[in-house]
Amino acid sequence: MEHMESQLETQPLGLSRALFQWLRDSLQNRGLWGTTRNFAEQLGLFIRDSFPDRRRSRFGDIDYDFDYGVDTTWARLPLGVRIRELFSERLYQPTDPVEFHNVISHVPADFRNLAFIDLGSGKGRALLLASEYPFREIVGVEVQPELHRIAQENIDRFSSDKRKCHRITAYCMDARDFTFPDEPMLIYLFNPFPDYVMESVLKNLREALQKSPRETFVLYNTPWDERVFARDEFLEKVYEQHNFQVYKSRL
Ligand SMILES: C[S@@+](CC[C@H](N)C(=O)[O-])C[C@H]1O[C@@H](n2cnc3c(N)ncnc32)[C@H](O)[C@@H]1O
Repeated sequence: MEHMESQLETQPLGLSRALFQWLRDSLQNRGLWGTTRNFAEQLGLFIRDSFPDRRRSRFGDIDYDFDYGVDTTWARLPLGVRIRELFSERLYQPTDPVEFHNVISHVPADFRNLAFIDLGSGKGRALLLASEYPFREIVGVEVQPELHRIAQENIDRFSSDKRKCHRITAYCMDARDFTFPDEPMLIYLFNPFPDYVMESVLKNLREALQKSPRETFVLYNTPWDERVFARDEFLEKVYEQHNFQVYKSRL
């Protein structure tokens, strides 16, 4: 309860403030040239993904939505979300269900003791998939208000015979502002943010665990920013395959 109240204090940023914040952070971390190059890359992806062939190919992930009557596909995204992706620097993409069950099977933990926390939860597919496991609770954190709204509708609508956890909470906020709950955790990251955001999130996590040590795992799916993890020694890599890594806190 205390945890929920502390999260409610932060508000998602509107489009222009989010743009301003990205510009400030990116200039600070990468300078003018790095920021320009990065923006050009994101714009290239935006244009590529606007072609009909590319958009059609994205419907390949729609089986899950048909099976459960939800909207988690990356084929159908409001224009505002796509524009915001230009400066959150990661495209929304839901976790593939088969992949999810595979990666989570490599976490050596009793899930009944853990809170599952998806930082960058998008339309909430990983939250729904996680509810098939007996977690103490499930928490999603998503910076894009429109994706968060869809995630909440999905959570309300979702029903599955395989469901084992019924306590799902979704927050609309920047993961850098998230206060980690004071309980053992499995943190799920599906390539959600650029390196400087990851650094800040890991710093918060380290400080939370130093203050109150507890069993904590990080499941990093599609680890583009592995070198940020390598720099921070409080996490020990306990398993890896080419497309994901499992870390355990040493604290
Ligand atoms: C690749 S998607 C993963 C979606 C979801 N975790 C899943 O597996 O189905 C990454 C998500 O991270 C979100 N994101 C990006 N930056 C963020 C930030 N600073 N705080 C919270 N969410 C963020 C994006 O908007 C996007 O929805």
